[in-house]
Amino acid sequence: MAEYIEKEDMTRQKGFVLKIKELNNRFAQEKGRVPLVKTETYGCQQNENDTERIRGILKDAGFEFCDTEEEADIVIYNTCAVRENAEQKVFGRLGILKHMKESRPDMIIGLCGCMVQQKHITEKIRKIHKHVDLVFGTHALYKLPELLYKAMTKNNKRSVVDIEDSAGKIAEDIPILRDDNKKAWVSVMYGCNNFCSYCIVPYVRGRERSRTSGAIIKEIKSLVENGCSEISLLGQNVNSYGKDLDEDIDFAKLIRMVNEIEGVKRIRFMTSHPKDLSDDLIDAIAECENVCKQLHLPVQAGNNRVLEQMNRKYTREDYLKKIDKVKKKIPDISLSTDIIVGFPTETKEEFEDTLDIIRRVEYDNIFSFIYSRREGTPAAKLDFVLSEDEIHENFNRLLEVQNEISKRKNDAYVGRIEKILVDGESKNDKNMLSGRTDSSKIVNFKGSKELAGKYVKVKITQAHTWSLNGEFVEECI
Ligand code: 5AD
Ligand code: SF4
Repeated sequence: MAEYIEKEDMTRQKGFVLKIKELNNRFAQEKGRVPLVKTETYGCQQNENDTERIRGILKDAGFEFCDTEEEADIVIYNTCAVRENAEQKVFGRLGILKHMKESRPDMIIGLCGCMVQQKHITEKIRKIHKHVDLVFGTHALYKLPELLYKAMTKNNKRSVVDIEDSAGKIAEDIPILRDDNKKAWVSVMYGCNNFCSYCIVPYVRGRERSRTSGAIIKEIKSLVENGCSEISLLGQNVNSYGKDLDEDIDFAKLIRMVNEIEGVKRIRFMTSHPKDLSDDLIDAIAECENVCKQLHLPVQAGNNRVLEQMNRKYTREDYLKKIDKVKKKIPDISLSTDIIVGFPTETKEEFEDTLDIIRRVEYDNIFSFIYSRREGTPAAKLDFVLSEDEIHENFNRLLEVQNEISKRKNDAYVGRIEKILVDGESKNDKNMLSGRTDSSKIVNFKGSKELAGKYVKVKITQAHTWSLNGEFVEECI
């Protein structure tokens, strides 16, 4: 059973929120403006969701938000540890902030999230990036008011650090500030027990802890009351949701419960581990009218020896069988996956099996990553068979094969009328609107800006590899 942060500890944090508010009032009197915070998120949706909590806490404490570090009194980077390039980006930004802080010594720099949960990283920050004032790990997020208050009032140059692994107790009732009021991520569980041999997540996010269904449903109902209609249920491995709870619940039952909530029009979820994808869940996706017919099922590699060395606990045959079942039960399912290219020990021939699986499944979309060595994981000790050039060559071949499939899948949409939730202006063309289909495909079309946040019908007129173009038909009722 997941443990919860004690009520008294949460109340104690509220006390620090009040103390920060006092400091902020004084700041406003002196400077004639409210103190500003810049937040930046690296990595996955779980991190995005954590940043929304950070912003919720900060808003309660009287801060406002800005878009650039230059304007900011406080900068907080919520970091990712899954691949090295995300870490390098953060260290690059810290270098720039060092110069900024020289001319503005009152600026507070905070780092949090998965990256700082690793000891070798915190050591590096301590030694090289002494200008960082505040460091807190994934388990200490609820303590932000206390830690920030300490950072705001300290009169030495030492940073305030809290990265202890408190076994990841769940903190409910942290305020959340969401940018989008139509779509929301809702975490259903935290952590991961799978220990895939390449992955750092179980080490930095701890063991699986599920939130009670009551807490999840309460959060969704309150989101709906505030106008939200698309809910994405989040967890590193949502298929093992509930295993640690006393309740008689699993993920299939949970999505059936969410499907019953009046006002929820779209339910999405990620991520599913293939070994835990149950028939019950496939049935629930097929039968629940509000669950989007979309499944992200990371395969990672197509060769059995590689899968075993990755500690994935399924074979390519198991995986393909599950995909067949899904396709039979839900013929219009949109499928996506994650692939790691260049896992150590993988040979050229073994990589061919990955291409083969991609061709067989015909995913709508894949997320492919070049393997990144993570200190402390079992795969970090393995040797490479392929050279860097060969790995990049494989990566490009994978993209080539998938692009052709994605384009073909998108071509099949031309002529169809699709329901779109309009996000707003298209990123690439200000004259166009952009939104997503139930299957999560991006559709760009011309229409009035007032359609933002609404569900509309659009006729698909043109297919690209990554998106579709369409013509506005009508608003959905
Ligand atoms: N190197 C590259 N990709 C990784 N992933 C996880 N760990 C690593 C790593 N060390 C990928 C997996 C996972 C996705 C979120 O990130 O494909 O599904
Ligand atoms: Fe990492 Fe594997 Fe857990 Fe996914 S299931 S978070 S890849 S350890």
